Amino acid sequence: MIMEQIQQIMRECGRIMLEADRSHADIETKGRSNNLVTRYDKAVQQVLQTKLLELAPEAHFVGEEEDVHDSIASGKAFIVDPIDGTANFVKDYKGSVISVAMTQDGQLELGLVYNPYLDELFTAQRGKGAFCNGKPIHVSNQPLEAGLTLYGSASYYPELIDDSFRLLRKAFDRSMDIRRSGSAAWDLCCIAAGRAELFFELRLYPWDHAAGTLLVREAGGTVTRVEGGDVSLSSPCSVLAAGSCVDTSFLRE
Ligand code: IPD
Ligand code: CA
Ligand code: CA
Repeated sequence: MIMEQIQQIMRECGRIMLEADRSHADIETKGRSNNLVTRYDKAVQQVLQTKLLELAPEAHFVGEEEDVHDSIASGKAFIVDPIDGTANFVKDYKGSVISVAMTQDGQLELGLVYNPYLDELFTAQRGKGAFCNGKPIHVSNQPLEAGLTLYGSASYYPELIDDSFRLLRKAFDRSMDIRRSGSAAWDLCCIAAGRAELFFELRLYPWDHAAGTLLVREAGGTVTRVEGGDVSLSSPCSVLAAGSCVDTSFLRE
């Protein structure tokens, strides 16, 4: 029931994105000059915060914008990225999504990602599989040699760029080709749906990957840190996601 209600809220947020007037987006920068925020990021987060908390008033709320960073350690919590792919959104590149995860006592329970441009809604519930527009999805069973590597450039962190490109080169040499979408949540949907075989980025926040992490796992794939070990839902970390037949050890050599 809550799953359907969240989907409705996300579709409503998708309409805000599609109808946005980019000439009045009030673009600001956060930290580095390539880390952007628009009034639409804030507006979508406001709708998510209000409406998700109407569904579960007791829940904690973590959202990328406006510094809403509650603890998710106990009870129910929502972790949301109102627009993942803000640079794409500003450029009208049509490659941004809305990401909503729900946790219980720090464990992922629900993961939803909505791409309003393709009208694709990805949903996963712990132990119940992953779906795209209601149809079951599975990760790819192809090896990397016959696969695509999706890559996030961690572009807000200059100290990671050399390492990032070093790993990308290794992955490029082992894959059919590479792709950079500009939205980590979307990349994880593509891994979950078997559209690509490998994804990595050296630093992501929980709102970038929480929903996508559950989607990939429920679709039969793996999500860990690049260096190994589980991803964190309370602090930034690297993220490595893969289909069922990809040997990722070369990234740690
Ligand atoms: C970013 C996107 C991008 C990834 C960055 C993220 P934002 O999120 O997911 O693909 O490379 O690391 O921060 O800022 O567009 O919400
Ligand atoms: Ca993001
Ligand atoms: Ca964002």
